[in-house]
Amino acid sequence: MILYLAPLQGFTDRVFRNSFSQFFKGFDLAIAPFISALHGGRYKAKEIRDVLPEHNRLLPVIPQIMGNNPQDFLAVVDALDDLGYTTVNWNLGCPYKMVAKKMKGSGLLCYPDVVDAFLDHVMPVMKTGLSIKMRLGRYDKKEIFDLMPVLNRYPLDEITIHPRTGIQMYDGHPDLDAFTEAFALCKHPVVYNGDIKCLSDYQRLSEKMPYVERWMIGRGVLSDPFLPMVIKNGSDTVDDKLGLILSYHHAYFSERLATLSGPVHVMDRMKSFWSYLAPSLDRGDELFKRIKKIRDPHIYIENLDDFFQEGTQWIGPIVNS
Ligand SMILES: Cc1cc2nc3c(=O)[nH]c(=O)nc-3n(C[C@H](O)[C@H](O)[C@H](O)COP(=O)(O)O)c2cc1C
Repeated sequence: MILYLAPLQGFTDRVFRNSFSQFFKGFDLAIAPFISALHGGRYKAKEIRDVLPEHNRLLPVIPQIMGNNPQDFLAVVDALDDLGYTTVNWNLGCPYKMVAKKMKGSGLLCYPDVVDAFLDHVMPVMKTGLSIKMRLGRYDKKEIFDLMPVLNRYPLDEITIHPRTGIQMYDGHPDLDAFTEAFALCKHPVVYNGDIKCLSDYQRLSEKMPYVERWMIGRGVLSDPFLPMVIKNGSDTVDDKLGLILSYHHAYFSERLATLSGPVHVMDRMKSFWSYLAPSLDRGDELFKRIKKIRDPHIYIENLDDFFQEGTQWIGPIVNS
């Protein structure tokens, strides 16, 4: 099986990917959070910096692009080709209204003709391969069944399906029956993505869908960095989890200090980091409450040291499947 780290904008950038990969195993590759293809063939230098090969030596990465204009999209593809990338991913899944109403992300899923015209334009001239990450539809899961014949006509590398609709955001459960139907219709390799939070989630899904060979995990790894390794091993045999979590945190924090411009940005990122991880620690809610209001990284690290000295344990994420 192949295990992917999902793109999570604001979380799984190179700082996360590198500090994670120093201490944990299990992922074969990552899709990076999206780079916006801006009007006039422009893009943000910061977004390209995230995928510079010299910043991504520990975990192979596939850059992702968000956009609907073929020329703008191709300009980003060219920049990524110049960096040596041989494949890129197109974001057709972003559920946010602000994005979707501009006919980007999941906002394109209900327009198979627009997707067709886009692929017809870009595919013959792309210097790299192309994969797609998508949901079942914008408004309705049936949209994927109109789109699949279009996607089947192009030589795509792979399609990742998160089996929810865009308007559903993250509510309810992934629709495994719709995923199975889409999988059967798709002539490209398909990656399953959605709600894998513990080993038993993966075991349940892989028993139900034994034909799936490619899997992607997002939020689950933010709460439990051991998860990919445990899934690959088929059992949880990791010792001294708390020690590993501390080392991982310190690597992440010092890299944030080195790469972000001001203390407020650093602290925002540290709060996001703990928003997923703190519930996996005994008294983690207390830690999160303590750091939530802190704006100075020095005070933050003092508080964190105190918290760990007072004593805590790794209890793992609370999973309600
Ligand atoms: C905070 C956040 C940011 C995300 N950013 C992206 C992104 O940049 N590109 C993308 O394709 N999906 C993005 N996603 C969707 C995830 O990649 C993934 O499809 C979703 O979280 C479901 O998988 P999970 O249940 O394993 O987390 C994001 C999701 C979250 C919660």
